[in-house]
Amino acid sequence: MDKILVRGGARLTGEVEIGGAKNAALPIMAATLLAPGVFELTNVPSLVDVNTMGHVLRVLGAQVTHHDHSLTIDTTNCSYHEAPYELVKTMRASVCVLGPVLARHGKARVSLPGGCAWGPRPVDFHIRAMKALGADVEIEHGYIVASADRLTGSVIHFDTSSVGATENAMMAATLAEGTTTIENAAREPEITALADFLNAMGARVAGAGTATITIEGVDDLHAVEFRVVPDRIEAGTFMVASAITGGDVLLKGVVREHCSAVISKLQESGAEIVDEPGGLRVRGPVWGQSVNVTTAPYPGFATDMQAQMMALMAVADGTSVITETIYVDRFSHVPELRRLGADISVDHNVAVVTGVKKLSGAKVMATDLRASAALILAGLVAEGETEVSRVYHIDRGYEAIEEKLAGLGADVERVRE
Ligand code: UD1
Repeated sequence: MDKILVRGGARLTGEVEIGGAKNAALPIMAATLLAPGVFELTNVPSLVDVNTMGHVLRVLGAQVTHHDHSLTIDTTNCSYHEAPYELVKTMRASVCVLGPVLARHGKARVSLPGGCAWGPRPVDFHIRAMKALGADVEIEHGYIVASADRLTGSVIHFDTSSVGATENAMMAATLAEGTTTIENAAREPEITALADFLNAMGARVAGAGTATITIEGVDDLHAVEFRVVPDRIEAGTFMVASAITGGDVLLKGVVREHCSAVISKLQESGAEIVDEPGGLRVRGPVWGQSVNVTTAPYPGFATDMQAQMMALMAVADGTSVITETIYVDRFSHVPELRRLGADISVDHNVAVVTGVKKLSGAKVMATDLRASAALILAGLVAEGETEVSRVYHIDRGYEAIEEKLAGLGADVERVRE
């Protein structure tokens, strides 16, 4: 298994290109299953999760080719309807093929994803949404087995905002008979991106980006070309990289409004964020102030940036309270940050981080995707060498992070084993 070695102390400067958003690319890839034809997706990041979704589509009968940052997906002969456990267990986002496969073929058999490092992560909202659209849904031998001659438009009300369930419901409803209203829909930019993609395919989706989405069902959809939006979490991670090293980094290809919550917290902690024609410049303070952070659905502070923000707070001036409201157990990075000398205590879903003047490099273990990013960020300012093992987690969601950081002057390398 590869490791990433970081020798701390370098101030990051220069420019970095932010890639396409993993969390937008995955549901858009799934949505290609709604129509036969040849799709061209551009600005697709080269990531393990994207490859996994490619495998899922192939198992369902699609031909998928990835070249550079483009994906060609031919869904002409997609006649299979089963997403197997072996794939879904490795990436729970695979469950978003449920809606499109069911809508196009009238049946779908998709493995239940099982648990994850941050807790149970159920898919009950996805199942309820399919039932609301008139599908028969049973759980059989660890699989969601759904069928319907044709889905029918309906009102789907989510108890809490769910990105994946909103996406599944939206995709399924595009081919349903009649109109569907999704209430308490997730408002993440990835939802808006998916709606734009579906509308380009001929769907009638309105209200994406608000809490109420309306979908007028159509009889069929068609293949299109589409560019994936920039990754706001990769952008946020590089913003923290600049801030934590007191750096001066220009991020290219960022949509500023997608990053507002992170920008606001970084500004509060003393970073300077400047819009420039070529992108967004982030200048870090010499020693940042501690700030309190509470994760929340978009446009609130993303849970996917919580670990990285905690790394920044570990070396800030003062005490910060970080409250996780989306995944209450999402603190597996805490013991690892402590190994680097961070002063963090956790009570249920609240972490109290007292900033220290310096961290010291150590061997640490990546426990999930964003936790790995947090450890690398902490390593950038730790004295000596930090060795992050199990970096396969990071390869799921960050393309060439060590090369991008090295391009900004960080002393970081991958050791292949
Ligand atoms: C997506 C993101 C993930 C991010 C998360 C929250 C993708 C591929 N992944 O995950 O990176 O951390 O949004 O921003 O886009 N819930 C239920 N029942 C369900 C579905 C969700 O109880 O059927 C709960 C979850 O346990 C969680 C909350 O709803 O507490 C939000 O989860 P959700 O928005 O669904 O996350 P994902 O779409 O899985």
